[in-house]
Amino acid sequence: MIVKRSVTASAPATVANVGCGFDIMGFALKGKGDRVTVTMQEDTDDKCLVISGYNQMEIPCERDRNTAGVAIDAYLKATGNSGIKLGISLEKKLPPGSGMGSSASSAAAAVLAVNRLFGDPLDLPDLIPFAMEGERVASGTAHADNVAPALLGGFILIRSHDPLDLIRIKCPDHLYCAVVHPDIRINTSDARRILNLDIPISDATRQSANTAAFVTGLLKGDIELIGRSMSDLLAEPKRTMLIPGFDQVKKTAMNAGAIGCGISGSGPSVFALAGGYQKAVHVADLMKDSFMETGLSSSSFISSLNEPGAIIE
Ligand code: HSE
Repeated sequence: MIVKRSVTASAPATVANVGCGFDIMGFALKGKGDRVTVTMQEDTDDKCLVISGYNQMEIPCERDRNTAGVAIDAYLKATGNSGIKLGISLEKKLPPGSGMGSSASSAAAAVLAVNRLFGDPLDLPDLIPFAMEGERVASGTAHADNVAPALLGGFILIRSHDPLDLIRIKCPDHLYCAVVHPDIRINTSDARRILNLDIPISDATRQSANTAAFVTGLLKGDIELIGRSMSDLLAEPKRTMLIPGFDQVKKTAMNAGAIGCGISGSGPSVFALAGGYQKAVHVADLMKDSFMETGLSSSSFISSLNEPGAIIE
């Protein structure tokens, strides 16, 4: 039953993969992210969203191609409300193709808003599969490592996608993340296409060991263990070629005192973890300088790893 005429929600940017956790780890970044407004509207055109904000022309407005539209329609179908006409407005705050979970932010805000419109019949974790359908249309795969933290906030480990099994990890409070976004765009679908589908068992073993050790480090607050576990053998070796100057930026971050550094999601943003806010600021500044040496301007963000997720506005 519809209980409101119009609801607006927003959801934050996210860092997915977090080094050694390809498709299975992600955390929310500080700040609001994309905003989605869902409105009961009998006379709506129903096929398109109204999009405003960042690079709005680059986002498909057709409901069945837009991550927010697809997520909402998956929700309506599953809850037996497909016949209900809704208008959807999307305000893009996050740059698409940035590696900061822009498509996930839209999808997460969309499902939170539509669920509130119907009086919150579903719990927050039950909304994730609908937001994942948004990711499927954006990247070709319904991965949850951006949408889960975008909705729930904090650091989320995805033990299983089907059935969905999520674990919230409380991160050390003094751990901060510097995210540096160089001014280029990478489509997640392209960045997934170049990955190796066959992984040598020795790499799989090392990756599993690093992931387990990384999570142990987070839970124990062992900064040294977190740092030495942040090594990715699956995506980073293939994707560095998409990010000009990546190796130098990473080296710069480590020399500046970061405990680890990697590609945020599918890039081009690069993230580094550091002990303390000031250290993260220092690392981000030098990473930006390093990108500048390759001719790329960039912007940076500092965040803890325990930030809130999507909210109703
Ligand atoms: N896990 C996804 C990938 C995240 O690396 O392709 C995309 O943001």
